[in-house]
Parts: sequence; structure tokens; C-alpha cells
Amino acid sequence: MNAAVRELAITGAAGNLGRAVLAELLRRGERPLALTRDPGAVRVAAPAGVEVRAADFAEPGGTAAALGGVRRLLLVSTNRSPERLGLHRAAIGAAVAAGVEHLVYTSVVRAADPGNPVAEATDHGATERLLRESGLAHTVLRFNVWPEMLVLSRLAHRAVATGRLPSAAGEGRTGFVTRADTAGVAAAVLADGLPTGTAPTSAPASAPAQHVLNVTGAGLTDREVAEALASATGRPVRHVPVPDDRVAAELTALGLAAPMARGWGENDPARRAGWFDVPEDATAARLLGRPLTPLVEFFAAHRAELTT
Ligand SMILES: NC(=O)c1ccc[n+]([C@@H]2O[C@H](COP(=O)([O-])OP(=O)(O)OC[C@H]3O[C@@H](n4cnc5c(N)ncnc54)[C@H](OP(=O)(O)O)[C@@H]3O)[C@@H](O)[C@H]2O)c1
Repeated sequence: MNAAVRELAITGAAGNLGRAVLAELLRRGERPLALTRDPGAVRVAAPAGVEVRAADFAEPGGTAAALGGVRRLLLVSTNRSPERLGLHRAAIGAAVAAGVEHLVYTSVVRAADPGNPVAEATDHGATERLLRESGLAHTVLRFNVWPEMLVLSRLAHRAVATGRLPSAAGEGRTGFVTRADTAGVAAAVLADGLPTGTAPTSAPASAPAQHVLNVTGAGLTDREVAEALASATGRPVRHVPVPDDRVAAELTALGLAAPMARGWGENDPARRAGWFDVPEDATAARLLGRPLTPLVEFFAAHRAELTT
């Protein structure tokens, strides 16, 4: 490899997903370039030999310079904010300016479906459009919901402590997929691309390759999520159906912080309507070299913290 050419780079290296992808790439023997707004934090955590460069998408010129020589880039989507789409536009522009050959983007399931009511999906759908218009060869990884959010929000803890999992998701199914699994898939796609034979989604043969991969677990109703919690912890937990306008209050009463309760509950109508129930794609497990982690196993791995 030409010393000036870095095969792989990831953005957001200080974030939850970025850190996990970086660790996964290192485990695979890769030495990716790590881009972040906080090089000091990443350098402390990264082993010797990992090059860390500063990149803030709010400064596209600096981001393009930091991407110099990179062939394949993982663009970790930034968090929901009024600035997010502009930041993604700048990052894609910087990748084009720097001559990146392939960009992998972390999106959400059904991001491009018309009428998607999930607030989180709007920026992702628009970013996917920007990617198609950019002329860059790219792969979109559409993640389903991380069960880590059930732990971080403390919803899982409180459900185990009280025996109640309130929601308005009804019989809607959500295909939870662990953050670790999504990081493993992202690392594999960045390093090796999709398995040979995966059909591109781009129409004309002359267009750069565009692929979309759903990274999702088996769809589970909240009754089944409660059963998984009970089975993993040995404590009784049952799903408690509540109307849409009561979800946030129920979750707050359960002990969740108000913003967390609002944030988690806001997707219940969409979960009930099936927006998080997408077909599994065996490609994700092939890329990982193992099955995706079942929800009950994820909870079992957190048994100690869920029961204290
Ligand atoms: N599927 C799910 O259930 C689920 C759950 C939670 C989040 N997500 C999404 O997954 C993505 C990553 O989540 P996370 O938990 O890893 O987020 P996080 O730890 O909060 O990190 C945010 C990420 O955005 C990057 N970022 C923010 N502003 C930036 C800027 N101006 N320039 C460059 N990078 C910027 C950060 O990079 P640095 O700090 O390294 O600069 C970091 O990687 C987000 O889009 C988030 O919305 C998905």
C-alpha cells in the first residue's frame, strides 16, 4: 500500500458507535484512520499505530484535508439536531473533494419510505438522497433499534424492578439489533465490502455502485420483549398496553428521566404501525460470521446491572 494512501477511515471515532467500529476494525487487523472532533480522547483510547486526525463537519475544508488519501470511509451519522443534515451534506462534499472511492453511511430502517412518521428518519432519508446525488459509490447500512437504548434509558432496569413494561406499541414488532452487531457489520462492510453477488440498488449500469443493507434482528412485540427480560433476569415482567397520550407519563412514573420518556415513547405509534418491522437480511450475519445477537442474550449479558 502506498504510504500516503489510507485504505480505511471512520468518522465519529469518539462516539459510542465509532469506538465500537474502531475496536472491531483493530480486531480484524486493520489500521484505520480515526477522524473525530476530539483527537485527544481518541488517542488516549486507541492503541499505538492508529492515526487520529481532527475533523469537524462544520469545517468542510478541514474535513476534506483530513480525508486526504482515504479510499473507503465510514460516515457515522451525527445525532439528531437542527444542524444534522447540513453536517452530513458537508461531510459528503468533503469526501467527494478528497477523492474517497466508497462511502459507508449509518442510516435507519425504512429511511427512504415515503410517509415515514419517525422523526429520526427524516435526516437519514435526506442524507441517503444526497449520497445518491453525490456520484459517490456507497453502501447504506439501515440499522434497526439498538437494545442498548433500553438499558441507557433505564427502561429495562425499571421494567425488571417493577414488573411492568408500559408501551403503546401494541402488536407492532421491532427488530432490535445490538450496537455491537451493527458495529461489526459496519467494520466488515468498510473493510471488505458486501459479499460478492449482492445486487446493487442503483439502476443504470454506468452509475456508481449503490447498496442498501437492512441490519435488523427478528421483529418482536413488546410482549415478547417483556418475556425476554423476564427470561434473562428470572424476574416477572409483563407488557402493559397504554394509550399513546399516556406513554410518556407512564414511563416517567416508572422512573425514566422526562426527556428519555418522551424520546422513547414518541416512536410507539410508528412501532405499532410496523415501521420498525423489516425483513431480516441474512447478509448481516454472513458479514459477522455468526448469527445476530438475540434480544434475550443481550439482556442476559446485562443481567447483573438489570437486577441491581
Ligand atoms: N439505531 C439506534 O437505535 C440508534 C440509537 C442511538 C443513536 N443512533 C444513531 O447512531 C449514530 C451514532 O450514535 P452514537 O451513540 O455513536 O452517538 P454519540 O456517541 O453521541 O456520538 C455522536 C457522533 O456524531 C459525531 N459528530 C457529531 N457532530 C459532529 C461534527 N460536527 N463533525 C463530525 N462528527 C460529529 C461524533 O463524533 P466525534 O465526537 O468523534 O467528533 C460522534 O460519533 C447517531 O446518528 C445516532 O443518532 C442510533
